[in-house]
Amino acid sequence: MSNKDLTGKKIAITGGARGIGAATARLLADRGAAVALGDIDADLVDETAASIAAATGVRVVGLKVDVTDRDSFAAFLDEADEGLGGLDVLINNAGIMPTGEFLDESDAVTDRQLDINVHGVITGSKLAGRRFAARGSGHIVNIASVAGISAAPGVAVYCATKHAVVGLGAALHQELAPKGVTVTTIAPSFVNTELIAGLSPNWLVRQIGLVQPEDVGNAIVDAIARKRGGFRAVPKVGGAFLKALMPLPENLRNGLYGALGLQHVTLDSDESVRAAYRDRTEKTTPAKAAAKGRS
Ligand SMILES: NC(=O)c1ccc[n+]([C@@H]2O[C@H](COP(=O)([O-])OP(=O)(O)OC[C@H]3O[C@@H](n4cnc5c(N)ncnc54)[C@H](O)[C@@H]3O)[C@@H](O)[C@H]2O)c1
Repeated sequence: MSNKDLTGKKIAITGGARGIGAATARLLADRGAAVALGDIDADLVDETAASIAAATGVRVVGLKVDVTDRDSFAAFLDEADEGLGGLDVLINNAGIMPTGEFLDESDAVTDRQLDINVHGVITGSKLAGRRFAARGSGHIVNIASVAGISAAPGVAVYCATKHAVVGLGAALHQELAPKGVTVTTIAPSFVNTELIAGLSPNWLVRQIGLVQPEDVGNAIVDAIARKRGGFRAVPKVGGAFLKALMPLPENLRNGLYGALGLQHVTLDSDESVRAAYRDRTEKTTPAKAAAKGRS
């Protein structure tokens, strides 16, 4: 048995219909894990689950979940548990990244990022954490971003949400370990999915910070196989670069980001290329927005 063999593991992943979630599910299934994919996109998650099941021959189920809805999330974990015959790991991966100037961002889009990227991850960590702590074992993997350890203009609220995920994971890694629950925070740089459509990673990002969804998936597989908690950037070199700049005075660091062209990567997005992503991710149900008195 290779040390990456996950036969017998039962793993749920949110945002599993496409992108990093789908690639990770495929890698987990390749290693023998049974996987429950949850996504708000019910049709696509079904298709993705069926194609991974057909390709790997392991149990893979596709389920509808809205991570912003606590009841929906709890039902997803119940159905995953039932469908797979138990649950060992939850990967909180669903997330959105609207781009644009902070002053132009509607309250509804701000709320949606907080609801999905922060509340969704907290809800998932709590619901799964309670189940895992009750039996003394389990693993929560939260997908943050290097935007959780650095910051860039054009994605201010996204940065705020990912800083929250990094902080949550750092605390839970300490708090849940004595209860037998491992907590891993994965922080990808730029990953080749629809989330970065219309952005133009410059030469430096392409050298040290642009990866494929499978690279993130492999880091997740590794963390699960080794029961490795704590923070991990993907690629490591991108995370190390950003961490090396941290001790610098903030204005000097920002000057360096500017000189290296990093601020323009997120600030100057091509909105025509990004339109489809924007349409898919920024829709908030009018009822939800109105209930919060937001527009
Ligand atoms: N792509 C990148 O460059 C990058 C970099 C760093 C971190 N990340 C993070 O990785 C995660 C996955 O991103 P991706 O690039 O695969 O994006 P993606 O848009 O390709 O996939 C995200 C999936 O989440 C689902 N989703 C959105 N809202 C949901 C909700 N309320 N409930 C359930 N599912 C929902 C979407 O339907 C979609 O299938 C996100 O948390 C993102 O912030 C991505």
